Amino acid sequence: MKTTLKFLGGLLGLVVVVALALALYVQLRGIPHYPVPQVPVVAAVAGTPAQLELGEKLVQASCADCHLNRQTNALTGHQLLDTPPEFGTIYAANITQDPTHGIGAWTDQELVGLLRTGIGRDGRYRLIMPHFVYMSDEDVHAVLAFLHSGHPWVKANPTPTPAQQSSFLLKALTNSVMKPTPVVSGPQIAPAPANAVAYGRYLVVGRYVCYDCHSKAFKTNNALHPEQSVGYLGGGNMLLDQQGQPIGSRNITGDADAGIGDWTAAQLAAALRFGQSPHGPLRAPMPKHSTMTDEETQAIYAYLQAVPKLKNVVATR
Ligand code: HEC
Ligand code: HEC
Repeated sequence: MKTTLKFLGGLLGLVVVVALALALYVQLRGIPHYPVPQVPVVAAVAGTPAQLELGEKLVQASCADCHLNRQTNALTGHQLLDTPPEFGTIYAANITQDPTHGIGAWTDQELVGLLRTGIGRDGRYRLIMPHFVYMSDEDVHAVLAFLHSGHPWVKANPTPTPAQQSSFLLKALTNSVMKPTPVVSGPQIAPAPANAVAYGRYLVVGRYVCYDCHSKAFKTNNALHPEQSVGYLGGGNMLLDQQGQPIGSRNITGDADAGIGDWTAAQLAAALRFGQSPHGPLRAPMPKHSTMTDEETQAIYAYLQAVPKLKNVVATR
């Protein structure tokens, strides 16, 4: 009996020591570094008027919520208030053309590497920012064209990005489940809009990455195989609204009760463009896609009605 107890005591001691060693390791290692991703060579982006127009629309829809600072009226970044406080204090970076405090010194290759994988030019894993794994090369080039343009949002602005104060939890997560996405080989080409369901999938997965917020949780999302994310498009991912109150993303599958199966395409268009849902006004962090075309809203509608319907009920208030 005595020896068993001694043995168990020893084992417990060992477990504690191992746990402490792991905690120390995570704390010392901090946010991990990785080899800088090798993405295919990016041809010089011409910055045609069509590219600039598309780029502005995409940056407005997919980057501005985090990077646009209302005080500077430029993409100098700000503290992210809609990420759970247990992650620490996280700031979106200055991505204006300033060579020191912005991305003026980054090559297009480095920018694409970061957008696709989450790894920066210095190898440090960037926190919280979504990975645009399946955004088409055409869309990515449009984003680059906009970042290099003369638009006031991107003009060099020397506002420094404060140092990230990531919590122990976020350090532990980035050392375990929150990982960079490997580079997907081959060109990324969006399907033709004439095929509404395929184009809608592209918009939801590739261009606007809606599934990232609208599946069960960030930590169980699958960036390489989005449809394998737990609760794909069934909502319930707990985010924070602008007052810091918890807000669940909604079920946007075609289930008639729990999802949007009983909506018309026009109702979805109003929700996406103006934040007007049949359930009432939609709050941040649901982005407003005011420049979405009919072609886009209709394709998203066709795709959402076609995905597997999930019963997950998310409280609407
Ligand atoms: C959910 C918020 C969010 C969205 C959306 C987002 N970002 Fe970021 N981004 C961040 C955060 C936070 C950082 C800083 C992370 C860090 O330092 O670990 C960052 C960093 C960056 C960096 C690296 C800058 C540097 O100096 O390290 C670039 C470039 C960038 N973002 C570009 C973009 C572009 C382009 C888009 C849209 C296609 C975008 N981001 C969308 C939150 C976001
Ligand atoms: C940054 C996270 C985020 C992203 C990205 C996002 N959503 Fe949302 N969405 C939300 C949240 C949170 C709500 C709930 C808002 C509320 O309760 O007021 C919501 C609500 C909705 C609703 C309302 C559903 C209802 O039952 O009223 C629809 C439809 C919707 N989103 C579709 C989309 C589509 C399509 C995309 C991509 C184009 C998208 N969302 C991108 C977070 C997000």
